[in-house]
Amino acid sequence: MELFSEENFLGYVHEINPQYAGIYFPSSKLISKKRGDKNGVNVGDFIVIESKERGFLARLIETNLCDGSNKTIKSEHDDLQLLGKAELLLVFDITDPDKAHKTVFAYPAVGAKVYFCRDEQIEKYIKKFGAKDKEGDIYASLGKLVSGNAVCNVSLNALFQRHCAVVGTTGGGKSWTVSKLMESVISKTKNRIILFDATGEYGAIKSTTVVLGEDSYFPYQKLSISDLFILLRPGGESQKSVLLEAVRSLKIMRLSGKTGTFKKAYQQRKEYNAVYEEHVTEIEDNTCNFDVNYLVPQIKEECVSYFPEGWGAADTKLYDKQASLVNRIVNLINTDVFNKLFGFKTTAQNRVSVIDAIENFTADNVEKILRISLENVSSLFCAKEITANAIGSYLLNKARNKCFKGSPVLLVVDEAHQFMNKNVTDERFENQPLDAFDLIAKECRKYGLFLCLATQMPRDIPEGTLSQIGSFIVHRLINERDKKVIENAASSAGKNMLSFLPALGEGEALFIGVDFPMPLLLKLDKPDNPPVYNTPLLSANK
Ligand SMILES: Nc1ncnc2c1ncn2[C@@H]1O[C@H](COP(=O)(O)OP(=O)(O)OP(=O)(O)O)[C@@H](O)[C@H]1O
Ligand SMILES: [Mg+2]
Repeated sequence: MELFSEENFLGYVHEINPQYAGIYFPSSKLISKKRGDKNGVNVGDFIVIESKERGFLARLIETNLCDGSNKTIKSEHDDLQLLGKAELLLVFDITDPDKAHKTVFAYPAVGAKVYFCRDEQIEKYIKKFGAKDKEGDIYASLGKLVSGNAVCNVSLNALFQRHCAVVGTTGGGKSWTVSKLMESVISKTKNRIILFDATGEYGAIKSTTVVLGEDSYFPYQKLSISDLFILLRPGGESQKSVLLEAVRSLKIMRLSGKTGTFKKAYQQRKEYNAVYEEHVTEIEDNTCNFDVNYLVPQIKEECVSYFPEGWGAADTKLYDKQASLVNRIVNLINTDVFNKLFGFKTTAQNRVSVIDAIENFTADNVEKILRISLENVSSLFCAKEITANAIGSYLLNKARNKCFKGSPVLLVVDEAHQFMNKNVTDERFENQPLDAFDLIAKECRKYGLFLCLATQMPRDIPEGTLSQIGSFIVHRLINERDKKVIENAASSAGKNMLSFLPALGEGEALFIGVDFPMPLLLKLDKPDNPPVYNTPLLSANK
């Protein structure tokens, strides 16, 4: 059998324990010859072990000089006897070496022969990862193994079907990887992508683009009441209840086909009650579907005395308590950036609602990527998180209504730490967390909305979301807490591989996934259109 041919022979298994197989290499020169180079055996190399009816694929994790061999090394070209440790990765039947079992359930025997594993063989195994053995298997060539030249054709379904996270410290290559992944998806599949571009760096990719706060806005009417509360931060019970009442009154005005404020002082409740009862679901639908321009005068209308049958005189004390809330509303709707972002005033005709952009994108089948750029969205008032979360909620509802079931959509969120796990809480009022992405991760796999998150800080991904992520692409990672997160999330990963993480170069990454029986260390190919993020440079004094 070619896999176990004498020309690939390297040595013997001399020790077996649950953590590794110990290998005896009688001659380092022999190893160099097999590798076709001068470097001898290398940590990270793949080997195969032939043991009775089973074969094993393993990776060398350590090499040492053999005890008793000549301890004085004169040059790296000396012929040395070596001992190595290898991590067992896959088990296969000797009769069918191309087909690996999903788990390592057996061990080789001491004395079993060890051979060099050629790149072609590794390529075959990698292609089997996540294979459904159906015609639907789609593979993308993403790069080469760091240890050698094996080309990695990775199953796109294995990568995305259970959501995917791209993580690593700044400059590790996350955004380039995201570009490479998107290019693979659009060239190999019929599926489409919605991209949240936090910094505007994906401008070179062919897409339909909307720039929030510039040529596009998020209609405030589609914000939830809790989003409005985060923006306005009503303080104390009094501001909160007055704000909620004002919202109800303005919704009643809209539903009665009227504009302006709802007059309350010295009025009976009859008319109000009739409209409220007729439209209760729309009034309590948790959206901001009312005319925000009348919110300040309406708050004044709400500050009156209450009776079961109607309202009485103005309550100036109550109105005084609303001063800070009124101030915040005035500031919010009159600030140009927020007006442009949420369309509070009449919106200019050439600006498109991001909701319409999503609807048009999903309805017509022209462009493959919708890029929603948040580069101009201010972080003040948590506007960035709120907007991203609100768009996420909209997509979540679309998914729940089975809009993506026929043809799954990939939702790509770069710089996800800017949007996720944001605790915009205030103990003075009950607050809904910004949890749209969390819910998408938990629910939307079955609805055909797949998440691909990229972040510098895996520890910022909420735990509930992390546990839903099936595959990780891990670039250089130094922070211990972040490494721990990956270690916990990917328990099946060969723990030894995680020790490579702090030393990875640009574009090198570890692929770990539920459908990957072993982690893969890859150097990713360059994307055709890499993201461009121009960090300003310091300039020298002349
Ligand atoms: N696959 C690759 N091949 C070659 N060079 C790469 C590759 N990936 C990344 N690089 C290099 O690394 C640099 C940083 O990559 P990238 O912008 O993707 O990092 P990042 O992890 O997204 O960083 P940040 O967290 O700051 O956004 C790139 O400008 C490029 O020079
Ligand atoms: Mg980046």
